[in-house]
Amino acid sequence: MEQAKLTALVQEMTLAEKVDQLLQLAADFYSQAAEEKTGPMTEMGLKDENIQNAGTILGLAGASEAKRIQKEYMEKNRLGIPTLLMADIIHGFRTIFPIPLALGSSWDLAAAEEMAQISAKEAAVSGLHVTFSPMVDLVRDPRWGRVMESTGEDPYLNARFAESFVKGYQGDDLKNDFTRVAACVKHFAAYGAALAGRDYNTVNMSERQLRESYLPGYKAALDAGAKLVMTSFNTVDGIPATGNKWLFRDVLRQEYDFDGVVISDWGAVKELIFHGVAADEKQAAQLAIEAGVDIEMMTTCYTHYLAELIEEGSVDEALLDEAVLRILELKNDLGLFENPYRGASVEDEKVILSPEHRQAAREIAQKSIVLLKNKADILPLNSEETVAIIGPAAASHDVLGAWSWQGKMEEAVSLLEGAQAYSSHLLVGKEEFDYFAPSQKAVAEAVSLAQKADKVVLALGEAEWMSGEAASRSDITLPKAQIALFEAVKAVNPNIIVTLYNGRPLDLNGIDEAKAIVEAWFAGTEAGNALADILWGAFNPTARLSMSFPESVGQVPIFYNCDSTGRPYESAPNEKYVSKYLDVSNYAKYPFGFGLSYSQFSYQDVVIDQTELTPENQILLTVTITNESEQTGKETVQLYIQDLVGQVVRPIKELKAFQQVVLAGKESRKVSFAITEEMLRYVHQDQRTISDAGAFLAMVGPNSRDLTAVTFNLVK
Ligand code: GLC
Repeated sequence: MEQAKLTALVQEMTLAEKVDQLLQLAADFYSQAAEEKTGPMTEMGLKDENIQNAGTILGLAGASEAKRIQKEYMEKNRLGIPTLLMADIIHGFRTIFPIPLALGSSWDLAAAEEMAQISAKEAAVSGLHVTFSPMVDLVRDPRWGRVMESTGEDPYLNARFAESFVKGYQGDDLKNDFTRVAACVKHFAAYGAALAGRDYNTVNMSERQLRESYLPGYKAALDAGAKLVMTSFNTVDGIPATGNKWLFRDVLRQEYDFDGVVISDWGAVKELIFHGVAADEKQAAQLAIEAGVDIEMMTTCYTHYLAELIEEGSVDEALLDEAVLRILELKNDLGLFENPYRGASVEDEKVILSPEHRQAAREIAQKSIVLLKNKADILPLNSEETVAIIGPAAASHDVLGAWSWQGKMEEAVSLLEGAQAYSSHLLVGKEEFDYFAPSQKAVAEAVSLAQKADKVVLALGEAEWMSGEAASRSDITLPKAQIALFEAVKAVNPNIIVTLYNGRPLDLNGIDEAKAIVEAWFAGTEAGNALADILWGAFNPTARLSMSFPESVGQVPIFYNCDSTGRPYESAPNEKYVSKYLDVSNYAKYPFGFGLSYSQFSYQDVVIDQTELTPENQILLTVTITNESEQTGKETVQLYIQDLVGQVVRPIKELKAFQQVVLAGKESRKVSFAITEEMLRYVHQDQRTISDAGAFLAMVGPNSRDLTAVTFNLVK
């Protein structure tokens, strides 16, 4: 529909119809089981026409149901306006991929785009139009449960993944390509910086820090064309995001030139009351509409008070009209006026969980699983060894993660099922194994199997409910019973390979004496196959951490790109009065960018072609990488830069580029990076993003710790 007709349509709508267009309700209100809606309907003070004219619906899936609802909706809508269906497709629809924190460890942007594209395809045939993804909140605190939804602690890497997710979801012709869905980037802004890692808690940071580290991910998603932005539950400089005019009108719409739809998070408009910035729902409605929030998700402040606010002159009707127009434009961008059923297709739902999609999920999981330790090359296993596969996660199908909505555990592959393809010498327990309080019988059986085995695969981890929304943990160790099991097994057989399913960086000191540690995260529908592929060497691990694993939760927040301080420990490690702890190091146990391979890579001859950089030229840094092993492998070569003297304190290093190179056994290759003035720009005290002339370090290596540095100058 042309723009002029959309504008005319808004003018044709009554005030009540316009207000209802801003309401988003859950799918239950449209189910055929009417009683499912009477309770919430009464509770929310909704009338039938509010439900009938609510502009969008969330959490519905299934082509036939989506078509039924759209048909009924349009028959009853006076102006023939279609509804729009949104849902959380965070890392897969029915074929579940590794959680985003795992995907972040792949450093594989093409894999992220493929994941998003397959997710969109399965969602679109099921009748969906929008996904509430990508979540691009930067996270530096593993206590926060939603760390599993992020791609980690680095602004540069988060931004690259944000772009890839949006491209995969939306493609380049959203209106006509019905295999794609619109992306909603969230949660704007800085939700991942919740104080003390406690979900929904206050966020305190300077505008400069917000712009430097937290906003780049959202901006990258918007530059890639994300159609929607979701508000975050937290405050930004004392004002909740959902009522924050500066954040949404000045930064998002003005500075970022975003003219798409802003949707509140679930209940976040009404929560302005609990935050203490609105006395009642009427004031909450006014704050939110003035901040530019177009859609109110699952509360009714707009429904009950927006018309009154306009009629009494407190709110300009133009604010309502612009919100309605943006919602209609989104429906139009999805082609819903011409094709209200869009991609919904009962016959095409066979693409869901197809063998091709499962294979893609397996390959992406392989790339996301991090080999953290491999002492004496105990891995890979060979098919002749007798291997005991024990522990609570061995037979578990709890491998999908907390945001796997349509995913079904029974369709997932357990480690045991994956292992059977590789060995006929497996010792497997029969006893049910609880994650937190295994029976004595189960433990005794596990120990006896360990005793008979050459090697032990001890499958441990978190249950999926231990991470995700409203799942922060103050203690990030493995469950105590699992550490006790580790000790009991170690007493009879020290050849232990620990595999982990978990949704956050953990304090792994309890299993430190494992010979090998394989971090599988929640690896999705094909978890067991991908993990077995790595354990038996069919896949040579390539993943590198995108978030630091602390020595202890007491170090948190701990992240690689930290500031130096006025008393850096490194300057005088034996001194008392330097920045350090009495009881633990300053460093991560496994740092950002770290991961092992079955190959061994060495770095030589780091050189730059000149030492003076100007805004007009670039410096070429070259390093020679050699695969010292016989086995072909993939290395992620990482480039970090430090600004040695800034107008404000600068991080001791920042990731600026990376390249993944595949090297055959004994192969050497020169890898080059172009260093530009643009890479050196940062947010100054006056909020301008510019570079300073002066001295810099360029550092290259396999992770954020083991680096070789060269110096250069920026001359302006
Ligand atoms: C939740 C989450 C948000 C999600 C929304 C809809 O509370 O914060 O990420 O998209 O509600 O389910």
